[in-house]
Amino acid sequence: MVDTDVQSRIHELRELINRYNHEYHVLQQPTIPDAEWDRLFHELKRLEDENPDFITADSPTQTVGAAPSEAFEQVRHEAPMLSLSNVFSREGLNEWIARVRRFAGRDELEFTVEPKIDGVAASLVYRNGVFDRGATRGDGMVGENVTANMRTIRDLPRTLTSPNGPIPEVLEVRGEVYMRRSEFDLMNEAREEAALPRFANPRNAASGALRQLDARITAERPLRIFAYGIGMVVGQIPFKHSDTLALIRALGVPTPPDTGVYSDADELWAACEAWLEWRADLDYEIDGVVIKVNDTRLYPEIGTVAREPRWATAFKFPASQGVTVIEDIEINVGRTGSLNPLAHLKPVEIGGVTIRRATLHNQDEIRRLAVKIGDTVVVERAGDVIPKIVSVVEENRTGDEHDFIWPEHCPVCGSTVERVEGEALSYCVNASCPAQLREQISHFVSRGAMDIEGLGTKLARRFVDDGLIRSFADIYRLNWEPIVEMEGLGEKSVENLKRSIENSKQRPLARLLFGLGIRHVGQQTADLIAAHFGSTDAIAKATQDEIAAVPGVGKVIAQSLSDWNAEERNQLLLNDLKQLGLRTEIDESERQSTTPTEWTGLTVVLTGRLETLSRGDAEGLLKKAGARTSSSVSRKTDLVIVGDDAGSKADKARDYGVETIDEQEFLRRMKMDTD
Ligand code: IVH
Repeated sequence: MVDTDVQSRIHELRELINRYNHEYHVLQQPTIPDAEWDRLFHELKRLEDENPDFITADSPTQTVGAAPSEAFEQVRHEAPMLSLSNVFSREGLNEWIARVRRFAGRDELEFTVEPKIDGVAASLVYRNGVFDRGATRGDGMVGENVTANMRTIRDLPRTLTSPNGPIPEVLEVRGEVYMRRSEFDLMNEAREEAALPRFANPRNAASGALRQLDARITAERPLRIFAYGIGMVVGQIPFKHSDTLALIRALGVPTPPDTGVYSDADELWAACEAWLEWRADLDYEIDGVVIKVNDTRLYPEIGTVAREPRWATAFKFPASQGVTVIEDIEINVGRTGSLNPLAHLKPVEIGGVTIRRATLHNQDEIRRLAVKIGDTVVVERAGDVIPKIVSVVEENRTGDEHDFIWPEHCPVCGSTVERVEGEALSYCVNASCPAQLREQISHFVSRGAMDIEGLGTKLARRFVDDGLIRSFADIYRLNWEPIVEMEGLGEKSVENLKRSIENSKQRPLARLLFGLGIRHVGQQTADLIAAHFGSTDAIAKATQDEIAAVPGVGKVIAQSLSDWNAEERNQLLLNDLKQLGLRTEIDESERQSTTPTEWTGLTVVLTGRLETLSRGDAEGLLKKAGARTSSSVSRKTDLVIVGDDAGSKADKARDYGVETIDEQEFLRRMKMDTD
């Protein structure tokens, strides 16, 4: 780019970012996702880094947030509330560590890793242990006085609990005000019942609640706080950040859980990755982790640039949201006959993946989002699941959008569509709807079920469409003549397919049960039912009450399975499958103890090498006893079995106070003593 182009792009980016900052911080109505803001901000930063002459003091890169609203009394922060630099990869983190080491003038350094809570930054001043003033960050120098609102925060103590030593005379705790996902959902449900608009996400809701002019409204919103540091202090505090967090906790202010201290770069990275893995299971939203130098005495030496300290950085998780346009809405008919609306999107890249479709779940969701075809929407990608539509960017409406009309008939077979009472889904009533059959077959042959290699979704559909497969049993009595002639199927692949169909007959009963695709019978439930009843014959005879009495199986599942049992064609199918040689009974060795044991429901982690058992055998024993195994240690872990040469998982368990036992003790508890 030539200089004038660069300058005008810089100008354009600044205007955009200022506008979005205002929408976010002052109006509390962001119109773009965070990831888009990050992208613009980084582009501006890069251009300014490459052209330092163009940097001006009012550039958003040189200021933090937006100016405070005039509706609140202004509060000058004694120490500025800083922002954080970002890294996005392991390389970025390593470069940051190298820079910190250089500025600190030493290689041995300790770092802390904390979750980066996605909420609103807050400053809480305690005088002589009593909560005195609460403020927002504002532009980092001047914030808004929101003391009355902060007093309504559920877990914010009005007075600090005295730890062993004296409480500092003045202590400014800094942290993030946020909402738990579960409480946010409950609040939204209540709002919906009261015909009030739902909030888009916990962060916006928290931000809006904190800046209410009437604290009674704030009090109705489930705000919480996590403290992550301190600002101004008059008195003594520890020099290590981790000790300060422990002090804050001891004083009664909640701090983020699972904060750890690391001096090794590999372990530090492992901790960042662990948070990425936990992210989806947390009851609060995080958009990354924050890494800080633990020894605060080094901070002046390491320094701060443009309101970002060099001694801390945020490892931002891959973007999970993007903005695009809904080009069409299509209805897919699932294997249970459910009508699943799917949005066709203008392709958009989110976190390195091109997204073309997103689920709209059901009719209620379309109504809730008030989404129209042609709308600009925010799309979210969470883990491996199909992306979902989060919200509509209403201000982008041109008037050309149109409503999606929910079908009264199945789009595949034309049969009536019915909505089951108490459920959000509508179903095609035709049990032999070809769309259902196609989906049922591809589920039956899938990995978690009968795992028939070579019979993928495409081929399974082709067999259904050609009339070769009309039921699960047909897979085992295929007429191979037309198949051998099929285009694209070589002799070898046909031979392989025959073999894998034959092999699949040996899949355990639980897999078969799961493969049948009975509504609400997932993998875990299938395991429980197979282990309890032991055979398809016993399952077929079981009454609804008997099914509901199986530990871990609820009323809804019992109802669904007994409805399935009641259909004659399903009984004929089970009979057919038995005649065809599938495993319709379990081996004695697969029988799971159905009476609860001391292991029932426990989450157990195995680490290190065991002497008398293989990892697989140990996991098998645990599963049979009713425990669940997991590969990583968290606070939710109940027990860690530690073998030889165990690594960080054992240490982590001890840090968390999770019980650890050795192999001997494990065998003893399993009542399998070898001597
Ligand atoms: S430390 C100088 N720690 O992220 C350090 N910030 O982009 C200042 N945040 O304004 C912040 N969780 O509101 C820190 N564990 C954490 C955090 C955290 C969330 C927010 C905070 C800050 C923003 C920086």
